[in-house]
Amino acid sequence: MTKPRRALLTALTLLAGAGAVAAAAVTETAQNATATNATREEDGLHSLMVKAGKMYFGTATDVNTFNDTPYQAIVSNKNMFGMITAENSMKWAAIQTSPDTYSYADADQVVAKAKANGQQMRCHTLVYTQLPSFVEKASWTNETLIAAMQTYVKNVVQHFKGACYAWDVVIEALGDSEEKHYRDSIWSQNIGPAFIPIAFAAAAEADPEAKLYYSDYNLEFFPDKASAVVDIVKDLQARKIKIDGVGFEGHLIVGATPSRTDLAASLRLFTDLGLEVAFTELDIRHASLPPSDADLKKQADGYVAVVGACLDVPRCVGVTVWEFTDKYSWIPNSLQHQGDALLWTADYKPKPAYDAVMALLRAATNTTTGADGTTAGDSKSGVGRVSVGSVLGGFLGTALISVWLLL
Ligand SMILES: *[C@@H]1O[C@H](CO)[C@@H](O)[C@H](O)[C@H]1NC(C)=O
Ligand SMILES: *[C@@H]1O[C@H](CO)[C@@H](O)[C@H](O)[C@H]1NC(C)=O
Ligand SMILES: *[C@@H]1O[C@H](CO)[C@@H](O)[C@H](O)[C@H]1NC(C)=O
Ligand SMILES: *[C@@H]1O[C@H](CO)[C@@H](O)[C@H](O)[C@H]1NC(C)=O
Repeated sequence: MTKPRRALLTALTLLAGAGAVAAAAVTETAQNATATNATREEDGLHSLMVKAGKMYFGTATDVNTFNDTPYQAIVSNKNMFGMITAENSMKWAAIQTSPDTYSYADADQVVAKAKANGQQMRCHTLVYTQLPSFVEKASWTNETLIAAMQTYVKNVVQHFKGACYAWDVVIEALGDSEEKHYRDSIWSQNIGPAFIPIAFAAAAEADPEAKLYYSDYNLEFFPDKASAVVDIVKDLQARKIKIDGVGFEGHLIVGATPSRTDLAASLRLFTDLGLEVAFTELDIRHASLPPSDADLKKQADGYVAVVGACLDVPRCVGVTVWEFTDKYSWIPNSLQHQGDALLWTADYKPKPAYDAVMALLRAATNTTTGADGTTAGDSKSGVGRVSVGSVLGGFLGTALISVWLLL
């Protein structure tokens, strides 16, 4: 979500100036956080996910939330979130502020807080299109851009070495639609498709322990886009370049979320290649606001389909939501009149989607068979067939994405 997130950064900057407003909000919402705090010593999304045999349930967060007390009570609870992703502060635009300046302070704080809370990090992201303006504006050749990328990847991966369970090495390299094509970027313009293997090779050399991921959105909807990622994976494997996982970002729409079965089939396209998979940026937004009770129920069904699909695929390691409260979602800043996409309201009330995911996980930990009756280990069935309904939902999603990229 390139341009929207740039808009978000601007919004966050404005927010940082509004200290008085934030302070008032903390006092107001503190009472409501108490209920959520009650889960501190009990089960939460992460601890139940682990009991269900997965590695984690995680969330994106960033330094803009550090003074928000009720927020911190939830995000710091390792039973709730066992995996942390820095939403913005590990992106190239945030880290390399000038050719000679690497600014790690914000990202280091996110890592330190996660460590103090007993949480792991998914590190995000190395080669992407949110770039510092000096990188965007420079006049590159294939050779000079490859050298700049290799230097950046080496410096950043070595800086965070040991702190990252996984790196999103490259995200969103492909276009928005169902067609197979590379997104127009300085990478595709100057280097061509070779930028992906070059980035993965540089990351593998800098930290051989971290899991290396390619992540993208709309893989949930478009068989051709998913199959383009299959080709990327096979190309890396043929070159003996390390890739460990594929991330499904999971920016989905209420009422247009693929079924649990279809999502699991899409995940298996990659586990069949020997990779692990994860949902890395999950949010399920309402296409119009405010949501009705029926919409909230449909949203809950969507979250259950996504988390359920991960439960159904043995090498799906976990699910990360792209923030957990509507208060900090990127969506309203980028998609007018859409949103309320997360598990908690802006005033920290758990939504029906939260209750539904907790119920799904409780049920999954209460039996040795999956909630749909299949036993674990079933990784061969399904070849990524996606229903017509899902594809139509995808067109809706693409139409919306295309509109906001033009903004
Ligand atoms: C706290 O929750 C109560 C009941 O759930 C709600 O009525 C109230 O508006 C909330 N207050 C704030 C400040 O979020
Ligand atoms: C939540 O729990 C943490 C740690 O036990 C505590 O510091 C914090 O004040 C609690 N928050 C609320 C709103 O009760
Ligand atoms: C850039 O150089 C790399 C490495 O030599 C090569 O694989 C790639 O095809 C080149 N790209 C273009 C557009 O010439
Ligand atoms: C666990 O399974 C038992 C027996 O099937 C059932 O009675 C109980 O309600 C279940 N508990 C939960 C939390 O799902």
